[in-house]
Amino acid sequence: MDENRVVSQESSPDDADSGLRPQWLRDYIGQESVKDRLQIFIEASHQRREALDHVLLYGPPGLGKTTLAHIIANELGVNIRYTSGPAIERAGDLASVLTNLEAGDVLFIDEIHRLARTVEEVLYPAMEDFHLDIMLGKGPSARSVRLDLPRFTLVGATTRAGMLTAPLRDRFGVIIHLDFYQVGDLAKIVARSARKLGVPLDDSAASEIARRSRGTPRIANRLLRRLRDYVDVKGDGEITLAMAEEGLRLLEVDPNGLDAVDHRLLQALYYRHQGGPAGLETLAAAIGEEGGTIEDVYEPYLLQQGYIQRTPRGRVLTAFACERLGWPVPSPQAQKNLFE
Ligand SMILES: Nc1ncnc2c1ncn2[C@@H]1O[C@H](COP(=O)(O)OP(=O)(O)OP(=O)(O)O)[C@@H](O)[C@H]1O
Ligand SMILES: [Mg+2]
Repeated sequence: MDENRVVSQESSPDDADSGLRPQWLRDYIGQESVKDRLQIFIEASHQRREALDHVLLYGPPGLGKTTLAHIIANELGVNIRYTSGPAIERAGDLASVLTNLEAGDVLFIDEIHRLARTVEEVLYPAMEDFHLDIMLGKGPSARSVRLDLPRFTLVGATTRAGMLTAPLRDRFGVIIHLDFYQVGDLAKIVARSARKLGVPLDDSAASEIARRSRGTPRIANRLLRRLRDYVDVKGDGEITLAMAEEGLRLLEVDPNGLDAVDHRLLQALYYRHQGGPAGLETLAAAIGEEGGTIEDVYEPYLLQQGYIQRTPRGRVLTAFACERLGWPVPSPQAQKNLFE
């Protein structure tokens, strides 16, 4: 992964939250149907004075999964414990996290698809019946002891719902899919962040940043910060449309929000594979990235915007992509692939 990639969806230390993360549902912009559903479930849990059902949040990086987990805990008025799939190495680690929970607490497990199998098996009864079976002693004298747990809410987050085992997925009562944001919502997010950062930002500049943010709030906030640097040095501190355009050109973010890595990927498909189909690993090798990274980070937006398509035989460049990038549609064979 290119660490310096401005439109990378992954978080970087630079994004360290300067108070931009919304704390309440009412500050969380966009994703209206997600908010509506959560509002109802949270309200119901308040009314019944019961822990909220377990929630699974999934979707590409930077769309607000961690943010929502914190909001859920705030709205419920409970503590949140934070851990992640890879951080829980042994079943015992999970047992100690679980036994330290208080009634109603939110346990947030990020990257939940990376939980070890043995750990997952401890989680099943904990999620379902709020108890834990632990083995005491070894050999013939070993016995299993059942511990009761307080009722808690597990909030799991993943960029890869497909990698979750069925028994785990089935134990979530609320499954929420976050999709890329509309440009209008991203413009509101950028405007809100600019206010928080105290940067003067024109409406037209906010829209321009929004259009180039790959539907992703994290990228929108990052572009805003880089443009703030740019206007502090090159301008008078105000982000106007002209300054935004200049700055974004310098950052090599094109008017569609595609950056150098996206272009490499699309070019590899076009020039090396005549539009495709090309297998994921072949493409990954061509652009020097890992297949998993392409699948998680680069591809979702290109798919959603219609630059590429997934077919059983591999990735295919679309006629739309050729049009956008000003390339003639490749060969008759490739053209055939496009419309198959
Ligand atoms: N709906 C929103 N409204 C305003 N800001 C948002 C919204 N969603 C996300 N953000 C901003 O985007 C940033 C990234 O969001 P977050 O860290 O929650 O993403 P994520 O889905 O957990 O990503 P990852 O998969 O990499 O963990 C947050 O710091 C927050 O400032
Ligand atoms: Mg996160």
